[in-house]
Amino acid sequence: MQDALRITASTVDPGLLGLPWSVPLGKWPSEHIVSLPKGLSRHLVRFADLSGRVVAVKETTAEMAKREYEMLGSLARLDVPCVDRVAVIDGRTDSAGDALPAALVTSHLRFSMPYRALFTRVLRPDTATRLVDALALLLVRLHNVGFYWGDVSLSNTLFRRDAGAFAAYLVDAETGELHEEGLTEGQRLYDLDLARTNIAGEIMDLAAGGRLEHGVDAVAIADGIVSAYHSLWAALTAEESFSANETWRITERVERLNALGFDIDEMSMATTTDGTVVHIQPKVVDAGHHQRRLIRLTGLDVEENQARRLLNDLDEFRARSTKEWADEEMYAHEWLTRVFEPVVRAIPYELRAKLEPAEVFHQVLEHRWYLSQGHGRSIPLAEVLTSYINDVLRHRRDEATIMGPPTETVSIPVVTGAVPVPDEDDEDDEVDWRDLV
Ligand SMILES: Nc1ncnc2c1ncn2[C@@H]1O[C@H](COP(=O)(O)OP(=O)(O)O)[C@@H](O)[C@H]1O
Ligand SMILES: [Mg+2]
Repeated sequence: MQDALRITASTVDPGLLGLPWSVPLGKWPSEHIVSLPKGLSRHLVRFADLSGRVVAVKETTAEMAKREYEMLGSLARLDVPCVDRVAVIDGRTDSAGDALPAALVTSHLRFSMPYRALFTRVLRPDTATRLVDALALLLVRLHNVGFYWGDVSLSNTLFRRDAGAFAAYLVDAETGELHEEGLTEGQRLYDLDLARTNIAGEIMDLAAGGRLEHGVDAVAIADGIVSAYHSLWAALTAEESFSANETWRITERVERLNALGFDIDEMSMATTTDGTVVHIQPKVVDAGHHQRRLIRLTGLDVEENQARRLLNDLDEFRARSTKEWADEEMYAHEWLTRVFEPVVRAIPYELRAKLEPAEVFHQVLEHRWYLSQGHGRSIPLAEVLTSYINDVLRHRRDEATIMGPPTETVSIPVVTGAVPVPDEDDEDDEVDWRDLV
């Protein structure tokens, strides 16, 4: 008898049985395959349609797939940004009964992009810096929970737009190790050094392909992760000492961390025996300070910088309001229904896959600022919206996911000056995007 197919899954989806596991991934019929840009990889990774959602399928050894599956589960419990695990498929055999590799299935992260798909022709230094800053923050968050990555790189990270910045998600946990007791400084610095080396290689690779803006120094960009990491790590963990009559410095430290997007769960405080000097050190910090406040007030679950932006707008709305409510929640509800939701609803249906609602809202606010500057007066939101939809949003590519039709029959609207997303590394995968930037 043939070996049975074994599926370990975090969610029960009968659709998993409907995927062609007895066919090597490289030969899956196009009706199962979804064309999306992806980063460089060692293994074969392809996107597939699972019951109407997109999943990434990676062929690897059973041992590696299980290990990565477990690791992604632990990281999700620790609340660090990473892709969601779906299943491990093991015991695959082809029609002749020969063994096929195991597969790790993860959910495609909506609106995320590999770094090479984030820009059209050349990577500009400001975009590179934003990518590196996002990766530095992710690395600090991972190290903070005791995760040693072992293969930090731009290719092992996915990026989502976050109000002018990027939010980074871990995509490849294969080499990772979780140390519950925390990482030693040596482990952290080793990981950081790997990050620097890998990023330098990835940027040089872009330069060699003519995809880096002329004159930009790849090594300087890669060095950027080291300084960004150290300053964040120090802000999160450094011990401070001050005299006992300067206790306001405790509040100041908390506020500084909040501004960086962190909340303190635990702070250790100690005084010298004579009571004249106080030492403080944050012990447990959680990212997502603004995210949590926005969720509490409005139920909107967005990235950290988007949350910051939306909260600023909400605070301004409250300041302008003539109402005198005691509860912040009441203003929040009014802002949500009278400001945020009307903007999101005004986006024509066919343009909704272009950007996430919170990112659209952020861009509308930016657009209002530009228009108002240009006209020397404040422009009503309705007018800003029309101009934004027609002059900006309509000309962007879709960044959610592109679901079927099968690649051969994809029809792409022809747009003058359209450039395909470069896919020189992905011979096996079909990139259907046309970029209008
Ligand atoms: N869940 C996912 N969502 C979006 N993209 C993904 C996902 N899983 C993998 N990818 C894409 O596939 C690429 C390769 O995946 P990765 O796990 O790094 O493979 P490898 O272990 O072979 O390096 C990534 O760079 C990413 O672009
Ligand atoms: Mg990888």
